[in-house]
Amino acid sequence: MKTFSITIAGGGSTFTPGIIMMLLDHQQEFPIRRLCLYDNDEERQAVIGKACRILLKERAPQMEFSYTVDPEEAFTGVDFVMAHIRVGKYAMREKDEKIPLKYGVIGQETCGPGGIAYGMRSIGGILEILDYMERYSPRAWMLNYSNPAAIVAEATRKLRPDSRIINICDMPLGIMEHMSKILGIPAEDFDISYYGLNHFGWWTQIKDREGNDLMPALKAYVKDNGYDISLGDQDKTDQSWHDTYRKVKDVYAVDPDTLPNTYLKYYLYPDYVVAHTDPNYTRANQVMDGREKTVFSAARDIIEKGTAKNCGFEVDGHASYIVRLARALAFNTREKMLLIVPNGGAIENFDPEAMVEIPCIVGRDGYEKINQGRIPHFQKGLMEQQVSVEKLVVEAWSEGSYQKLWQALTLSKTVPSASVAKQLLDDLIQANRGYWPELA
Ligand code: NAD
Ligand code: G6P
Ligand code: MN
Repeated sequence: MKTFSITIAGGGSTFTPGIIMMLLDHQQEFPIRRLCLYDNDEERQAVIGKACRILLKERAPQMEFSYTVDPEEAFTGVDFVMAHIRVGKYAMREKDEKIPLKYGVIGQETCGPGGIAYGMRSIGGILEILDYMERYSPRAWMLNYSNPAAIVAEATRKLRPDSRIINICDMPLGIMEHMSKILGIPAEDFDISYYGLNHFGWWTQIKDREGNDLMPALKAYVKDNGYDISLGDQDKTDQSWHDTYRKVKDVYAVDPDTLPNTYLKYYLYPDYVVAHTDPNYTRANQVMDGREKTVFSAARDIIEKGTAKNCGFEVDGHASYIVRLARALAFNTREKMLLIVPNGGAIENFDPEAMVEIPCIVGRDGYEKINQGRIPHFQKGLMEQQVSVEKLVVEAWSEGSYQKLWQALTLSKTVPSASVAKQLLDDLIQANRGYWPELA
């Protein structure tokens, strides 16, 4: 059986151990010959790297493993690059979230001004990794989780049109896991239609394997509860995610013909979100005090004990999705998966040059898009506004244009006026010195 070589870029990410655990679980169907972690933060990388070395020595001693900050070593002889970098790390995410809140504007990792600021940092980092991959392993695929995926995807469409990169998001999958629990039907059995932009989409159909329509039962639940479910004693979901899942009931109410992505709350109910956010303790603080501590203390524990037996690393849906995508490409499984891809007519009455999130069939040669037909005015209007924001950010980055970034912020549905947009922009420029290109 063919064996594969994988590099995880952003090797020091909190999500790296989960992906490695998932790869270990699937060694039979997806044998890995070589695994390399690459990061540009040597210290952060070393903690995860040392722990994973111990883990792999115990569970897959035949696998060649390394961790490095050297691009040539990382990207030579690779079949898949799994990327999840965070340019500026949590310290900058905290600023992305807190600066807009000073103006009463939502402060969020990927939506609104925070997402725009993060996009301006991410584009360069992603292009750098993509260029390394193409220099050292031109036939490799890059599977990218790095956020803000919508802006990153538009940047790679426009600036690296021929590169072998597929951008993905785990949110729809996470939501479908909730739908599965609501209905008591495995998510693998769902046959879906879905369209939108990343963190900005809607399900239009969900059927089971026999073709039965599952939307009415789901809608009956969502109307009162959103996608929120109680997982009992096993529930490790942060309260803020429970709130997000619950708020879906109000997002759904605006268009009861479809079922929405959770992220639409930031665009449809920004006033509510701001009123329910502590400007001194945002999601970045929760993640630093939560997931980051948990993962890094599990890693340090492994290093200290010299063994990964009963270790705290865990697999999750996030890891399973990217591993399934790699397997689909490697073994031509022709699985239906949601990907962020150039529209090119798949949403008939929408910009063919927009990056959209739609179901695709994935196989050896990449993906084939599944046509989602025409979309209604409500979604089309929202998407045209948002995709224009994303395109303006990429133009601002590549042209070094202050004007275009001001336009992007002004156009964002989350920002009330051009004057607030300008104040925000000037603050964000200060905060992002050294990360953004110079704007003139
Ligand atoms: P994290 O800060 O723990 O990890 C990111 C790592 O990237 C850090 O170790 C950092 O040093 C490294 N890094 C930063 N710039 C780099 C560069 N230029 N080259 C190499 N490495 C670099 O962050 P996290 O919370 O684990 O998230 C990682 C990424 O995955 C984020 O972008 C996050 O938004 C994204 N993510 C996306 C999805 C999705 O649905 N698409 C889901 C979950 C997480
Ligand atoms: C979901 C989204 C990701 C996002 C993440 C944030 O998984 O799909 O794009 O990065 O949530 O989660 P966090 O726990 O870091 O706030
Ligand atoms: Mn996402």
